[in-house]
Amino acid sequence: MPGENPFSHAKTRVIAVASGKGGVGKSSVTTNLAVALARKGKDVAAIDADVWGFSMPRMLGVENGPELNEDNQMIPPSAYGVRLLSMGFFVPEDQAVIWRGPMLHKALEQFLTDVAWGEPDYLIIDMPPGTGDVSLSMSQFLPRAEVVIVTTPQPAAQAVAQRAAAMAEKVELDVIGVVENMSWFRGDDGVSYEIFGAGGGQELADRLEVPLLGRIPLVPALRAGGDDGHPIVVADPESEAAQCFVSVADQIDAITPTRIYRSELKIL
Ligand SMILES: Nc1ncnc2c1ncn2[C@@H]1O[C@H](COP(=O)(O)OP(=O)(O)O)[C@@H](O)[C@H]1O
Ligand SMILES: [Mg+2]
Repeated sequence: MPGENPFSHAKTRVIAVASGKGGVGKSSVTTNLAVALARKGKDVAAIDADVWGFSMPRMLGVENGPELNEDNQMIPPSAYGVRLLSMGFFVPEDQAVIWRGPMLHKALEQFLTDVAWGEPDYLIIDMPPGTGDVSLSMSQFLPRAEVVIVTTPQPAAQAVAQRAAAMAEKVELDVIGVVENMSWFRGDDGVSYEIFGAGGGQELADRLEVPLLGRIPLVPALRAGGDDGHPIVVADPESEAAQCFVSVADQIDAITPTRIYRSELKIL
């Protein structure tokens, strides 16, 4: 029997991190944003809903899946103050799974209802790249979700990122901002090089009429920290990249959601 959707109450802000395509750093941004919010003292839950490329368990260094409590609810594992549930906990890493819409819908529903989440301040969701079934399901379960779009700086990339924004609009979720990732690389000479071009994040933000929440530099330590489960905001909190993530978290936390939640919109 499905339980109540704990995120249907007003307290939890749901932030869905989306991108037009994979490889732009969506999971890195999601992970570091979640940890940065937790370091601000927030109670943070995260769902890795990227069914085609779960990466949050590795990035957070979480090795074990959830346990069950006496009510048969899942207790999510936690790292750096972030409680995480991932599709990756239920699928062997080397196994290909063909997710069909209804199956995904059911799995996501269970992630929301069959888990002892409590009442977190934030639920951060690593969305699959692009558009599709997961976005649709999420918008039904979480009609108050706010969407952050991650893009790279090259002007061509924002056309792709814009599709994710168009999807959000279609399912009536609010896009609250853009994060540009891999914006520059600072060499040992102190000079910053814009390897992937410049301006794409700002252009997209302007087009969507939302703020550019941050530009994250390309730093080898960020990749390394993602690979070994030490997110840069904890591994090297004084670094330029970590400070960028903290600033994104601060800005998101400062936004007062404009959408007034109406109980008649409750799906579950
Ligand atoms: N700013 C960055 N600096 C260095 N490496 C990065 C940065 N952002 C992402 N990466 C690396 O790029 C790869 C793809 O990032 P990931 O967050 O998994 O992207 P996505 O979730 O969009 O597919 C990962 O190996 C990640 O560690
Ligand atoms: Mg990813």
